[in-house]
Amino acid sequence: MKILVTGGLGYIGSHVVVELLNRNYDVLVIDNLSNSSLKVLDGIENICGKKPDFEKIDVRDKGELNDFFKRNQNVQGVIHFAASKAVGESVENPLLYYENNINALVYLLQELQDKEEAHLIFSSSCTVYGQADELPITESAPVKPAESPYGNTKQIGEEIIQDVCKVKPALKAIALRYFNPVGAHHTGHIGELPLGTPQNLVPYITQTAIGLREQLSVFGDDYPTRDGTAIRDYIHVMDLAAAHVVALERLMNKKSSSNFETFNIGTGTGSTVLEVVNAFESATGVDLNYKIVPRREGDVTAAYAHTERANKVLGWKAQYSLEDSLASAWQWEKNVRSKD
Ligand code: NAD
Ligand code: UFG
Repeated sequence: MKILVTGGLGYIGSHVVVELLNRNYDVLVIDNLSNSSLKVLDGIENICGKKPDFEKIDVRDKGELNDFFKRNQNVQGVIHFAASKAVGESVENPLLYYENNINALVYLLQELQDKEEAHLIFSSSCTVYGQADELPITESAPVKPAESPYGNTKQIGEEIIQDVCKVKPALKAIALRYFNPVGAHHTGHIGELPLGTPQNLVPYITQTAIGLREQLSVFGDDYPTRDGTAIRDYIHVMDLAAAHVVALERLMNKKSSSNFETFNIGTGTGSTVLEVVNAFESATGVDLNYKIVPRREGDVTAAYAHTERANKVLGWKAQYSLEDSLASAWQWEKNVRSKD
């Protein structure tokens, strides 16, 4: 079965490609390489012994996208990762985010909406919930006004897909609302490669541990939490990858209960920033240099997933511990730097 993965050379996409190839799917990847490199294909081949078919295509290029679908009429499922994802950059340059994340999605849906059958998995985010009133967060928690243009593109993206699904019953879609994806494939052949200074906690930790950054700043220790630092639900990227495959199979096996479904993808357990620091130290034996600094603007106090819907309906559950995730992120960091 042919599966198209847009943005399939990026961080999450590449791990999903590995999972699909390992399950013998025929995988087509399109990516414009704006935040990834062709070397990722070698990493995938090192793990799987084969590569996906790759074409350098920008999903916003309507003509090229249309030509791709004409040449590949037998694509049975699409997993759509291609998007820009830096929250801060989206505040600085909102139109870049609306243009890339929304246009790409619209053009993709234009290709899918008139097919006899189409199955789409969309990368959404727990940012759609903002600071939820109740924890853990269920899928029926209200979607709160977005904190950033990036977050807004995820909310709008879900709405666009839902609207199209209403009038095009042959299109079936699932939005996966990721909590905080971390870690890497255990071989260290693929992982997350942030450009410039990392904005996210785990790559900042591994870059500090390897000596690229002097010190981790822990943003705020005055939150109303058990140790004063903010709480998130850190999910191993390989668990996340497995969730994509089961969600896609749910669509392709015609098991979905409505044309558009949402699932939280997290572990169900929240960890504070200091707990992550401690878990990293105990998983790797490396001492981390860190200091407490004021809160970062826009951060919520706590977010972790209610995972019952994903557990029961998808039959998916996170398998890896936080220590596993951090050990794999560290393995990846060491591999990358040994090639520098
Ligand atoms: P990433 O930047 O590593 O991967 C995205 C890939 O898409 C990159 O390879 C990039 O080159 C490509 N791309 C971007 N715009 C494109 C376009 N117009 N045409 C073709 N290719 C394009 O990001 P990621 O962390 O792997 O995230 C994947 C998806 O998951 C994104 O939609 C992101 O918003 C979403 N998401 C990520 C997180 C996270 O914390 N990483 C959390 C929630 C949701
Ligand atoms: N943090 C630090 N120091 C750092 C970086 C982060 O203390 O150097 C703290 C943050 O304040 C927060 C926690 O670590 O409390 C996690 O921060 P991240 O930046 O790693 O993750 P966020 O929860 O802020 O957001 C991430 C992605 C979003 C995505 C969201 C949910 O950046 O794009 O997860 O999936 F939408």
